[in-house]
Amino acid sequence: MTSARVTLDRDFTAGEVPRRIFGSFVEHMGRCVYTGIFEPGHPAADENGFRTDVLDLTREMGVSVVRYPGGNFVSGYRWEDGVGPVSERPSRLDGAWHTVETNAFGLHEFVDWSRAAGTEIMEAVNLGTRGVDAARELVEYANHPGGTYLSDLRRKNGHADPFDIRLWCLGNEMDGPWQIGHKTADEYGRLAQEAAKAMRLVDPSIELVACGSSGSGMPTFGAWEQTVLGHTYEHVDYVSLHAYYQEHEGDHASFLASAVDMDHFIESVVSTADAVRAAGKHSKRINLSFDEWNVWYQTGKDSEDQPHVIERSGVWREHPRIIEDEYNVTDAVVVGTLLNSLLRHGDRVKIANQAQLANVIAPIRSEAGGPAWRQSIFWPFARTAELARGEILRAQVSSDRHETARFGDVDTVDVSATWDEERGRVALFLANRGLEEAADVEVALRGWGLGRVTRAEVLTVPNGADRHTSNTRDRQEAVGMKALEGVSADGGTARLTLPALSWAVVELEATPA
Ligand code: AHR
Repeated sequence: MTSARVTLDRDFTAGEVPRRIFGSFVEHMGRCVYTGIFEPGHPAADENGFRTDVLDLTREMGVSVVRYPGGNFVSGYRWEDGVGPVSERPSRLDGAWHTVETNAFGLHEFVDWSRAAGTEIMEAVNLGTRGVDAARELVEYANHPGGTYLSDLRRKNGHADPFDIRLWCLGNEMDGPWQIGHKTADEYGRLAQEAAKAMRLVDPSIELVACGSSGSGMPTFGAWEQTVLGHTYEHVDYVSLHAYYQEHEGDHASFLASAVDMDHFIESVVSTADAVRAAGKHSKRINLSFDEWNVWYQTGKDSEDQPHVIERSGVWREHPRIIEDEYNVTDAVVVGTLLNSLLRHGDRVKIANQAQLANVIAPIRSEAGGPAWRQSIFWPFARTAELARGEILRAQVSSDRHETARFGDVDTVDVSATWDEERGRVALFLANRGLEEAADVEVALRGWGLGRVTRAEVLTVPNGADRHTSNTRDRQEAVGMKALEGVSADGGTARLTLPALSWAVVELEATPA
């Protein structure tokens, strides 16, 4: 049996849970928009063509903010193509995903969809093929009340009130050679600085995200952040991080420890941003926007109708199936630990977006004309977004450890915790990364008296199944949350047992002592 001891103290906090870390991402890629969130004519579509089944699941997940319209897509995108009468919008080739983009869905539709979903908008501008002018014009179109050509055009196109978009990304993954309009750190840093200045001249209240590295494995990682922030420090609020994880053949232990890598990535970017702060004698701090993260089987098997690697044949199609990964129990446990990592670093990670929302490496799956369902990774997101409220607690964890090929010794039990004073609840989010043994966990809570256990649920391998079990169109509820039995709370100590390979949430009634 594995064992772990967790100590929480009411005085050891790391600030408010930033609600924007429960973000998602809608890109014009594969079937995320078309037949994902938008499918006119579907039996569940509303008068705007929005799939209400997908909208319901988005609300159930507790998504707070959605990044749009890309991703690699944005680096070749003309935002003007997506506004105005739909019948007059041009179809164009999207080189990023080798797809025909009809522009039937654009900015106004996304604003309406976001209002229906109750989510904030995080809009990306194209700094690949375009630049300062298109970026500042988009801010004017979106946020200026009226009386100018662009703001009046928005009004004419159906939205009298400004969209009031606060959060803006200055391009996407500009360090990546695959990116349309890829740039060196100096080229991008200068462009981002000038775009930021011009956008803020239109609307000084906006918040801006500069592109960091598209992954910590990039050869320019670290130097990129230093150079880009050297140019943009006083003009932006956040620097971005992107990370995708997958299980490599024969190495489940490293995959299950992906959050160790995420912790390290975050701490490295914090250090770099703070070094630029010191060198430049700046007083403000740059926070982090982890605006793409998830499990993604990038080296998975291709199939004819679902390429993992994008087809570069002469065939251009509208919304083809691309990277519709099917997630299993192991993937869900990893996603739970990645959320733990984001939460643990909530003092600096203020925004995070799971990539993506529907169909494309997504927690929500839907079929054209057919049903929508929750993938396994839906659950840890939904429960953490629901229960991580109030203040982040700095959990002191002393866990049995085990060896991994990529990260050396790691804690077998992974934990994050929050304290919601208003509701009088401590919430614990725990994972057992071991495949073989259950884990006994003792939690000492200093500074509270414990009452009832108000919630105790676990996601683990279903009876009679294995860790590769997933939800599918025909078996939509194979993986989900079930009651975690046997949780006790006595005096200042809670005790529970996590099954092998599991992610759990426990909520306790707590009264400050
Ligand atoms: O989310 C899928 C893609 O991954 C995004 O378009 C890109 O930014 C990243 O490389």
